[in-house]
Amino acid sequence: MELDKVYLGDCIEIMKTFPDESVDLVFADPPFNIGIKYDKWNDRLKYEDYVSWSEKWITECVRLLKRTGSIYIAIGDEFAAEIVLILKKLGLYMRNWIIWYYTFGQHQKRKFTRAHTHILYFTKNDREFTFNADAIRVPSARQLIYKDRRANPKGRVPDDVWTLPRVCGTFKERVGNHPCQMPEELIERIILASSNPNDVVLDPFGGTGTTAVVAKRLGRRFITIEISEEYYRQILNRLTRTQPNLPLFSVKREENPTPA
Ligand SMILES: C[S@@+](CC[C@H](N)C(=O)[O-])C[C@H]1O[C@@H](n2cnc3c(N)ncnc32)[C@H](O)[C@@H]1O
Repeated sequence: MELDKVYLGDCIEIMKTFPDESVDLVFADPPFNIGIKYDKWNDRLKYEDYVSWSEKWITECVRLLKRTGSIYIAIGDEFAAEIVLILKKLGLYMRNWIIWYYTFGQHQKRKFTRAHTHILYFTKNDREFTFNADAIRVPSARQLIYKDRRANPKGRVPDDVWTLPRVCGTFKERVGNHPCQMPEELIERIILASSNPNDVVLDPFGGTGTTAVVAKRLGRRFITIEISEEYYRQILNRLTRTQPNLPLFSVKREENPTPA
């Protein structure tokens, strides 16, 4: 297994070649099986095929996780319940069922506009895992609204509903024409919370390489896998423009301040 590398190919086949318990953090944003047009992947598998494929790649991720490791899986409404069951069946512990509420959801005519994604946060051990609360604090309502002197000046740990815009076509952050680029700010929070410098972060569904880019900037080691050669080349290009310790696109924002 080579670190700080982007692998081109099928993630299940490639993960099978990696040793047990070699990764500290997995962030996975798989195809949601809702008919998105990817360069090289059928995003409309039969129900049974998608569930059994999900079980295979998640089993590999869990095998690769260290005893103290964490996994975050982004998924849509259609399969969130099935993915939770797979994670529980594999013996992982649920820490949070995070909702990423995004602005700029695509408008709908015959149902309500989709404006959230589930981020399922599980750990391999129920007691021993990395969670760097101080690295991810946000300003609290006590600080911002009530000007309460009792407020922790360092802010508070964010809620489990995260409000961040999608990366739209016109955003500076946008890379190429990939249909599902994640915001760097979202991955930043996950990597800061659940890994330490030099830890190994794996993303089996590279896409535009957001996880690899953020991991590199934050001084973590990364492994990213992508099945499409076109996207793979985009990731390599994006990584050449990324240096450790550079600021992210993100600006720290106040998040749903509630009394705390
Ligand atoms: C939802 S996108 C990931 C987007 C990514 N989080 C980002 O911020 O750019 C899923 C990606 O997984 C890739 N993919 C699909 N099946 C794969 C497989 N079996 N192995 C590796 N990559 C795969 C697709 O080509 C697509 O780029």
